[in-house]
Amino acid sequence: MTTTTIAATTVRLRALVAEIREAVDRGLPPGPTAQLVADLLTPHLGAPDLLLPEHHEGDPDRYRQHVLHAEPDGGFSLVALVWLPGQITPIHDHVAWGVTGVHQGAEYERRYRLVPDGPSARLVATEDVITRQGEASAFAPPGDIHRVHNGGTGTAVSVHVYGADITRLGTSVRRLYRLPADA
Ligand SMILES: [Fe+2]
Repeated sequence: MTTTTIAATTVRLRALVAEIREAVDRGLPPGPTAQLVADLLTPHLGAPDLLLPEHHEGDPDRYRQHVLHAEPDGGFSLVALVWLPGQITPIHDHVAWGVTGVHQGAEYERRYRLVPDGPSARLVATEDVITRQGEASAFAPPGDIHRVHNGGTGTAVSVHVYGADITRLGTSVRRLYRLPADA
């Protein structure tokens, strides 16, 4: 079994994890679970004692992930993502339900729908969403294809909760899409 040591945490983060555990343990379907978790995460966003200074450290080459918590039973995990201006994900979807909360700055998201295109498929952009500091959004597969970037001028920091232990899986991504897509 793979174990992950989370070096350091905060009192507020531990409290948030306990709140999320209670919500997940209700055993609701993925969509309602994600919405409950989004509602729990929102009041903590932007609190100066939520994260440690090292959780704000970025990487000049790509957006950076800091693991904050992995539940021992694999039920959920939390990460902080640090985005320098312009940093972007590929187009992807997810292995499980998830919540994105913006702790600092804003996340710029383009959502897509997969449509048949002859023998293959293409991605049609359906919505552009900006999630600002203090806001959280929930998603549950299927229909969760998106691309995220930091379109602001400062560093963005977001807290993500996933309905799986992504430290065991290695990623929150189910599939990367290299199909033709609306820009
Ligand atoms: Fe994503």
